[in-house]
Amino acid sequence: MTEQKTITQITEKIDGARETERQIAFMEKAAGYVQELSEKLGRKPTCCVVTFGCQMNARDSEKLSGILEKVGYELVEREEADFVIYNTCTVRDNANQRVYGRLGYLNGLKKKNPHMKIALCGCMMQEPAVIEKIRKSYRFVDLIFGTHNIYKFAELLTAMFESDGMIVDIWKDTDQIVEDLPVERKYPFKSGINIMFGCNNFCSYCIVPYVRGRERSRNPKDIIREIEKLSGDGVKEIMLLGQNVNSYGKNLDMPITFAQLLREVEKIDGIERIRFMTSHPKDLSDELIQVMKESKKICRHLHLPLQSGSTEILTKMNRRYTKEQYLALVEKIRREIPDMAITTDIIVGFPGETRADVDETIDVINKVQYDNAFTFIYSKRSGTPAAAMEQVPEEEVKENFARVLETVQQTAKKRAALLQGQTHSALVEDVNDQDPELLTGRLSNNMIVHFKGEKDLIGQIVPVCLKECHGFYYLGERV
Ligand code: 5AD
Ligand code: SF4
Repeated sequence: MTEQKTITQITEKIDGARETERQIAFMEKAAGYVQELSEKLGRKPTCCVVTFGCQMNARDSEKLSGILEKVGYELVEREEADFVIYNTCTVRDNANQRVYGRLGYLNGLKKKNPHMKIALCGCMMQEPAVIEKIRKSYRFVDLIFGTHNIYKFAELLTAMFESDGMIVDIWKDTDQIVEDLPVERKYPFKSGINIMFGCNNFCSYCIVPYVRGRERSRNPKDIIREIEKLSGDGVKEIMLLGQNVNSYGKNLDMPITFAQLLREVEKIDGIERIRFMTSHPKDLSDELIQVMKESKKICRHLHLPLQSGSTEILTKMNRRYTKEQYLALVEKIRREIPDMAITTDIIVGFPGETRADVDETIDVINKVQYDNAFTFIYSKRSGTPAAAMEQVPEEEVKENFARVLETVQQTAKKRAALLQGQTHSALVEDVNDQDPELLTGRLSNNMIVHFKGEKDLIGQIVPVCLKECHGFYYLGERV
C-alpha cells in the first residue's frame, strides 16, 4: 500500500514578501530534481496543465505554468506527458464527473510511463468527499492541493519529488495573498489579473464561497504595479478578475471602490482595453456606471448574471435583488451607455421553480435583449442550502431549459444583427481554427469577427467592417 502523507496547514501568519523568497528557493530546489529527471530521460521532461472551469482557474493555471517553466519543464498541450495537472472546477456536478472520467485515462498513461506524475488542484479539491474518493479509488495520484495554497506550488512540487506516496495539502481558508511569483501567460497581448479572491455572497445554490473562501481584495498598489509590468511586456487588453468585482476594496485597511480602482487602471499607458468579471447586480454602483461611461478604455461589455427573472426564486437564491430592481438597473445602464453589450448567466431548474417562474425569466430576457447568455441546468451541490430544498423533476427542467435557450438565442441574434455593416476595432487574437487564411478578432462588445489577414496582425487592434452577421460571430473585412 502506498504511504499517504498529509501536510497540515502552516498556521503561522506569513509575511508575503518573505513567502515569495521562500517559494523562489523551492523553485531552485525543484529545478534540481527536474534536471535529474531530464538526465535520466535524455530530454527535457514535459508537463501538461489542463484547466476546467472559469477565468479564475485559467489565471491560476498560468501561475502554475509559470513555475513549471521556471523549474525546467517543457509545457505541452497533450496529456501524454511526464507531469499532468488537472486544475478542477466544481461549480456544477458535470465538471466533477469529467475529471473522474479523465483520471481513468491518465491511469492508463501512467502505467506506460513509470516517470509520470499526476497532480490535482482547484475548487473540486476543496471538497472533503472528493479527497476521500480520490484517496480510496484513485491512488495513483501523486499530489493534491486546493485553491488557498496554490502559491506554495513550488514547495509542493519539491515535496512530490521527495516522496513516493500521495501528498495531500488542503487548507480550509486563508487570508494570505502572495505577490510576484512567475506567470506564464497564454497570450502575449492580453491577460487576466486577479483583483480579489473568494466570495461572501452565499447564493443558496453556489459552492464557490465554500471552496474559494472569504472575500479578500488585493492591495491596489500591487494590482497597478502588475498591470504596469504587463503593459511593459506588450499587453494591450486586461481582464480584472473577481467573483464579485463590485465589492472590491471594501475590506482593505484603506477602503477603495472598484470604480476608483478602474480610474487608476485607466491611467496606465499602453493598456488599450479594460474588461472585468463578474459584476453582481446588487452591488453595481452609479459611480461605476459613470466611470464606464467616461472611459476610453473600458470595453462595451458588461456581464451581469441574472440567474432568474422570478423575484420569488431570486429570494430563495439569496441574490438580494428583485426582478424590478434588475430591470431598472439595466435600463439605467442602457440609458447612460447605449452601446453597452449586456450578457448574463441563467439557471433553470432551481428548487421550487415553476413554469410561471420560468415565464418571468423569459420576460426579463425579452426586456433586456441580452447579447449573449450562458444558460445552466441547476446542479445540486451538497453542503449548499438549496441542496436541502425540494428538487424539480428532470423532465420539467428540460422543457423549461429549451424555452429559455430559444429565447436567449433569438435576442442574441437580433442584437448581433444591429452591428452588421458597421466598422469596429478588433483585437486580433489568433489564426482561425478552420481556415488558416482567416484571423479571429474580438470586438469591444466581446463578439468575434473572422476576416482575411496576415498572421503578423495578431496582438494588434485593427478596424474591421462587420460584413455578414452569422448569429454568434461576424465575417468581416479589414478597413
Ligand atoms: N447549478 C447550476 N449553475 C450554477 N452556477 C453556479 N452554481 C450553480 C449550480 N449549482 C452558475 C451561475 C453562475 C455561473 C458561474 O455558474 O449561473 O453565475
Ligand atoms: Fe457563487 Fe453567488 Fe458568489 Fe457568484 S456571487 S460566486 S454565484 S455565491
